[in-house]
Amino acid sequence: MKQRRWISVGAVAVATVAALNAVPATASRPYDPTAQSLAALGLRHGLQVGTAVDLAALNDANDPQYRRLAASEFSSVTAENAMKWESLEPTRGVYDWAAADQLVEFARRNKQSVRGHVLVWHNQLPTWLTSGVADGSISKQELRELLRKHITTVVSRYKGKIWQWDVVNEAVGDPWDTPSTLHYKGFWAQNLGPGYIADAFRWARAADPRALLFYNDYNIEAFGSGNPADDKPQFVYDMVKGLRAQGVPIDGIGSQGHLGTQYGNYDTLQVTAALKKFAALGVATAFTEVDVRSEMTEAVQAGNSAEINPRLQASAANFSVLMKACLAVRSCLSYTVWGFTDRHSWVPGWFTEPPQGMAAIYDENYQPKRAYHELKSDLIFAGPPYVLPRVAPKPRR
Ligand code: XIL
Repeated sequence: MKQRRWISVGAVAVATVAALNAVPATASRPYDPTAQSLAALGLRHGLQVGTAVDLAALNDANDPQYRRLAASEFSSVTAENAMKWESLEPTRGVYDWAAADQLVEFARRNKQSVRGHVLVWHNQLPTWLTSGVADGSISKQELRELLRKHITTVVSRYKGKIWQWDVVNEAVGDPWDTPSTLHYKGFWAQNLGPGYIADAFRWARAADPRALLFYNDYNIEAFGSGNPADDKPQFVYDMVKGLRAQGVPIDGIGSQGHLGTQYGNYDTLQVTAALKKFAALGVATAFTEVDVRSEMTEAVQAGNSAEINPRLQASAANFSVLMKACLAVRSCLSYTVWGFTDRHSWVPGWFTEPPQGMAAIYDENYQPKRAYHELKSDLIFAGPPYVLPRVAPKPRR
């Protein structure tokens, strides 16, 4: 009986995939999957392949390739900075929606979904807010009310236009912080206590009943010891489990996926196991900010291929591990890269000691790198019975 049920579920899934795969091939132009975009190949699995978008690059008239690839290769977009609080409300009470609106409109024109990023984070907050709290002119009570208003204002403006919101970002510390026992870190926890997390999800839900609401963090690609004192994914797991038990409307866990070729990193089965463990809480999952940086040694900068090749290969392998794990887990709804070209990547500006770079899937001249081809291969080769179409949760009330 159990087996028959499995077979019929499997048959439906196979039929669905067959329908998704039905691509009209004309006699003159046979279907060539390698000529398809990442977006088109992702849709065969119901998976959205996205990118973070740098609005300055998008608006640069001398850089048409950026706009063209952002529109054609991806089925989902995220504002790299334009929806952060400091961008939206640089002056207290005066919202500047121009860049964020532009991204949402770009997505609409190109039939892309939007990941909203980010409502509550300790970085890139407006100075009026942080200095007001520091000098005592903004009380804790007022701060909580400002947060409620901010979430309500932003989510309401884009109601119905955002597929997934990163409601809370990076709320949990790292083992290298002090104290090293994992804890709720940063501006919001310090000023409001960890209760701000449940509040934020409730306020976001009140403003948009249909968006999928995510908790987003880095270094949660694979579980470690299982002890929440030093295992960040375990801490996040326990946190989300607790929030769900309290009825908090949290729908997903976003794993950022910022990797580096100098680290040990993970294999596909470890990452798959982590996504499955999160998914067992009843939430969706997603890779939200994937990039794989490398140390830019002098030899790399001088063009030494013996140093460059292993980096390109390790980068491709790491992009691929996250993609294969995502494909293997039906609740993994999207795979977003944090910028698609080394021409516009946050890595060289951010990781300077030692210098790092080469983190994206296209090089500085918009040539696809091995990582791009490997992602494409993963999407092409994947199929039933191991890889089945996505299943999204109903937004939690
Ligand atoms: C980064 C942007 O890419 C940079 O342009 C900006 O200067 C700093 O923030 N985790 C996140 C993202 O959630 O918002 C960060 O984006 C990268 C790390």
